[in-house]
Amino acid sequence: MGTRAVIIGVAGRMGRALTRTAAEFPQLTLTGAIASPESAALGRDAGELAGIAPLGLAVSADLAGALQAADVALDFSLPEACAAHLEACRASGTPLLIGTTGLTETLGEADLAQAAQHIALLVASNTSLGVTLLTELVRQAAASLPLEFDVEIFETHHRMKRDAPSGTALMLARAAADARGLAPTEALAGARSARGGPRRAGEIGFAVARGGDVVGEHDVRFLGPGEQLVLGHRATDRSIFARGALTAALWLAQQPAGRYEMRDILV
Ligand SMILES: NC(=O)c1ccc[n+]([C@@H]2O[C@H](COP(=O)([O-])OP(=O)(O)OC[C@H]3O[C@@H](n4cnc5c(N)ncnc54)[C@H](OP(=O)(O)O)[C@@H]3O)[C@@H](O)[C@H]2O)c1
Repeated sequence: MGTRAVIIGVAGRMGRALTRTAAEFPQLTLTGAIASPESAALGRDAGELAGIAPLGLAVSADLAGALQAADVALDFSLPEACAAHLEACRASGTPLLIGTTGLTETLGEADLAQAAQHIALLVASNTSLGVTLLTELVRQAAASLPLEFDVEIFETHHRMKRDAPSGTALMLARAAADARGLAPTEALAGARSARGGPRRAGEIGFAVARGGDVVGEHDVRFLGPGEQLVLGHRATDRSIFARGALTAALWLAQQPAGRYEMRDILV
């Protein structure tokens, strides 16, 4: 049967992409398809919901039940639902990958650290392998270039996206701040349009655009005297997040309790 996986948020865009992409992973079996208790998808076949052949797996709201026979869970739902999902995984001892973004208001670092004492936990606001490598390149560039190279982040997403700046933009900024020994709370400047005055040394600003069906675009610009380095990523298909998440979930299912990041799975 291989690794038994539960998808939480199965009725959403990412949940359906995960269901479709899981077929590319013969070593993985979907054993749970979880939606909200109010979901219109309850009782439907998860495969049909995702636009593929029936899987014989009904969409359910019974997460605790699904976790009883699972090796790993993937959460791509809503931030306000994630604390309950984390608690259910902690209670059942099931490794959990949280891909849901915008967590900070609902689930703090202390909650995540506490749960990671009991289960393998990977929180990733971007599970694409390309963005995982981009983050490492940003870390390297921020550490190598002199501080006079200012860092600014530009991101574009589809019109339905709820959070801004994107979780990925924040992650990239934190990687740059971290590499320069700056505290993210002080370094992250937020949107430039909301701030007046000249640029403060070391701060990282964001430019955000929302519209159309853009899956995700990120550029990290290092603006120096007389030259500019731009490190960027373009997502054209949601399946890259699903493929990266399923690759990471297979890996996570084998790990002992602890806190992990996407970069841990890069070879
Ligand atoms: N990590 C990454 O690489 C990555 C990539 C893309 C998106 N994301 C993030 O993933 C999340 C989902 O994105 P999306 O585009 O799929 O959004 P979406 O289409 O709005 O899907 C979210 C789904 O969660 C379901 N849901 C709500 N409460 C739930 C609960 N208590 N239990 C289970 N399911 C619940 C909702 O459907 P029902 O009410 O029908 O269940 C909804 O369809 C967002 O936070 C997004 O930013 C992450």
